[in-house]
Amino acid sequence: MGNLARIGVAIEEGLLEKFDRHIAKRGYNNRSEAFRDLIRAELVRSKWQNPDAEVLGTLTLVYDHSVRLLNEKLTDIQHEALHSVLSTLHVHLDHDHCLEVLVLRGKAAKVQKLADTLISTKGVKHGSLTMTAAGEEM
Ligand code: NI
Repeated sequence: MGNLARIGVAIEEGLLEKFDRHIAKRGYNNRSEAFRDLIRAELVRSKWQNPDAEVLGTLTLVYDHSVRLLNEKLTDIQHEALHSVLSTLHVHLDHDHCLEVLVLRGKAAKVQKLADTLISTKGVKHGSLTMTAAGEEM
């Protein structure tokens, strides 16, 4: 962490009470860390809005591998975008279902497009992209 700057923030009492209840439920011990996390989340969100920004994320997919050619399709898509896929984790959930987690890095627009392509492939039952950024940026 860099040097700490102290700031004063004026907030309506009602809003602050709601915020305090919310962050207590989430496990925060103090407001400062909750504020810092909100700011970081906003910076990450904003970064992802820039199509050319270098971003980092994870994509979780749950799919039915018994769907014809689905494994091949998902693998082909990933090979075409091999520079965006840093790593994958595969778990066989039951007889038909697989869970895959992909660690993605690259330009925001390209990573988002890759995630959308994989999620929208027939046989993929659920997909979710978590957008994050490298630690030194926050
Ligand atoms: Ni599997």
